[in-house]
Amino acid sequence: MSSSLGLTHLTGLSSSGPSFPPSHRRYNGRPRTSSFKIVASETIQEPDLSVTVNGLHMPNPFVIGSGPPGTNYKVMKKAFDEGWGAVIAKTVSLDAAKVINVTPRYARLRAGANGSAKGQIIGWENIELISDRPLEVMLNEFKLLKEEYPDRILIASIMEEYNKAAWEELIDRVEQTGIDAIEVNFSCPHGMPERKMGAAVGQDCDLLEEVCGWINAKATVPVWAKMTPNITDITQPARVSLRSGCEGVAAINTIMSVMGINLKTLHPEPCVEGYSTPGGYSSKAVHPIALGKVMSIAQMMKNEFQDGDYSLSGIGGVETGGDAAEFILLGANTVQVCTGVMMYGYDLVSKLCSELKDFMRTHNFSTIEEFRGASLQYFTTHTELVRIQQEAIRERRAIKKGLQSDKDWTGDGFVKESESMVSN
Ligand SMILES: Cc1cc2nc3c(=O)[nH]c(=O)nc-3n(C[C@H](O)[C@H](O)[C@H](O)COP(=O)(O)O)c2cc1C
Repeated sequence: MSSSLGLTHLTGLSSSGPSFPPSHRRYNGRPRTSSFKIVASETIQEPDLSVTVNGLHMPNPFVIGSGPPGTNYKVMKKAFDEGWGAVIAKTVSLDAAKVINVTPRYARLRAGANGSAKGQIIGWENIELISDRPLEVMLNEFKLLKEEYPDRILIASIMEEYNKAAWEELIDRVEQTGIDAIEVNFSCPHGMPERKMGAAVGQDCDLLEEVCGWINAKATVPVWAKMTPNITDITQPARVSLRSGCEGVAAINTIMSVMGINLKTLHPEPCVEGYSTPGGYSSKAVHPIALGKVMSIAQMMKNEFQDGDYSLSGIGGVETGGDAAEFILLGANTVQVCTGVMMYGYDLVSKLCSELKDFMRTHNFSTIEEFRGASLQYFTTHTELVRIQQEAIRERRAIKKGLQSDKDWTGDGFVKESESMVSN
């Protein structure tokens, strides 16, 4: 708990990074965090991890990413009990009977010589589809969870075929359970695109605009569009989604991959009756790729969407509080974790929170907003990097050269000028 002993003073929040004022649409009217915070000047302040995103209040920015960790009542309840900031359920569609999974459906990559069996797991491929549980069962579980945890944030992840009426029915039915927001899966790279679903929509901006239009005309809760990284320029679908009425963007879903070929059997992994299909890559190895995509989206949002309560959710390879801090420093409001929970369990959230707090203490940040987007300003073009470096080299050379004449001494640079002529 934060202490309020001693003298108090006002601390202005940093204005760096994307700042997204409240929107007028679908905003549920909850007060946003104020732009000033009263802190005790003589006591150490406990960092505050809570965030308010599109009007949704979360105790911390850590969100269960859609996938196995949000697949049924038991596991979602566990996530709330362990303290996750929000839960995004496994993606649902109207007709689960069309969703048929295979086993094995995961394959892992280990670090170390020749993928040594003892190496640390750094990559995870899955060919898992969206939820294969009947929609009615999932909806009952959402309802039960919202009854038991009315103050916690439950987000439904949805996906449908290219059919307006189907999307409208699905939105209507998930909203009736009391969920707080919707994440739309425009990004599953395997299986579903064969039915013009998931990444098939997220990779086609015209299709995306049309489907987002249907969704946002119907939805009454905030909508996040989940992006696929399997596209040349991820800012394009992100821009289309926000322009078409979505309140937020989440990135990234998994990266299209082939985990490997078994050199004894010559069959690819994961191997199903001797065959395989390209799947989605996640875990630690995708973190730098996810940071790159989130950075591009954050820059685009900062330039084009400052005038609204738009949000960004960073996803990909988060296992530590530091990994999460990186997404937030780029402008993310929340950070999702999927494979990390599959590897380390639900109590990972306590480690994530304490490591993020440690980072905040080191820099004297008391809220997430204080450092959100702070590192975005340090990205520029390569041409600009060359210019900056050449200028820096010129300056260093000029200092090294020393003064040519007594008339060159200046008042402001006097100490540096003295040093430039010292030999030891
Ligand atoms: C086994 C598995 C199943 C997944 N299922 C879904 C899904 O149903 N819907 C969805 O939007 N994303 C799904 N994802 C993608 C994750 O939510 C996340 O975007 C991706 O794995 C990257 O994050 P991570 O490295 O923290 O796992 C799944 C990921 C995995 C590993």
